[in-house]
Amino acid sequence: MPLDLSAATRFFAARGWHADHDTLDLVADLRDYRPPPAASERARRADVTIAPTVAADLAAVLAFETASFPSWTRWFQASNRDILTARDWAGTIVATLLFDGHGADTVFLPMLGPAAATIGCVGVAPHMEGRGIGTALVARASEILRDRGAGACHIGWTVRESFYTQAVYRPWPPWVRQCGRPARGPGQEPVLTGAVRGRGRQRDHYWRV
Ligand SMILES: CC(C)(COP(=O)(O)OP(=O)(O)OC[C@H]1O[C@@H](n2cnc3c(N)ncnc32)[C@H](O)[C@@H]1OP(=O)(O)O)[C@@H](O)C(=O)NCCC(=O)NCCS
Repeated sequence: MPLDLSAATRFFAARGWHADHDTLDLVADLRDYRPPPAASERARRADVTIAPTVAADLAAVLAFETASFPSWTRWFQASNRDILTARDWAGTIVATLLFDGHGADTVFLPMLGPAAATIGCVGVAPHMEGRGIGTALVARASEILRDRGAGACHIGWTVRESFYTQAVYRPWPPWVRQCGRPARGPGQEPVLTGAVRGRGRQRDHYWRV
């Protein structure tokens, strides 16, 4: 729910939905993208190799997601986006990212333009966090997208504002969103009413509350 739609917020609140956290979207103009100055040095010290995947990597990627970020596994299974991995000295995957574009499959294409790109599901194995790997992945994906001719690159549904802003992304107003869940109680369980499948996408579900 965009935060500036107060009437819509009231609509859901009146039907038993409770806001429980805010997320934000960010964008960067990749046409002249330059990675943050310290990014490559921090990644070099982290001793990881960052590269796009090939088909043979998919099983290892899915094993990493299932172990580390299980809620994202389906997005990596969908295989309609490119995957970037970081591997440690032993060749083990320690971080992954999804990217798409230009001409990304996003509902925001009319707002972002036909050269739009997306980055999402940036995940670093917990024992490898804080070494610059996440920043290096975002920077590398942004460079690849820039070189493909991408324009605006969108990152959605995140709570890690400072992480992305130091990687040169900026909050995209007014898409600060309030997320919530329906009240639970007798007769108040959400009821699945329908589903759609977009171009190459996972199923999106719609609920009646
Ligand atoms: C978010 C995530 C990807 C970050 O990965 P990471 O490898 O730990 O990130 P980095 O080491 O590059 O950056 C970590 C911190 O160092 C900061 N940093 C990066 N470069 C820096 C630099 N040159 N100098 C000082 N600080 C720097 C970042 O701002 C960040 O701090 P913050 O998050 O408190 O703002 C990782 O924590 C993760 O996988 N989290 C769980 C999944 C998730 O929430 N993903 C994001 C939503 S899609």
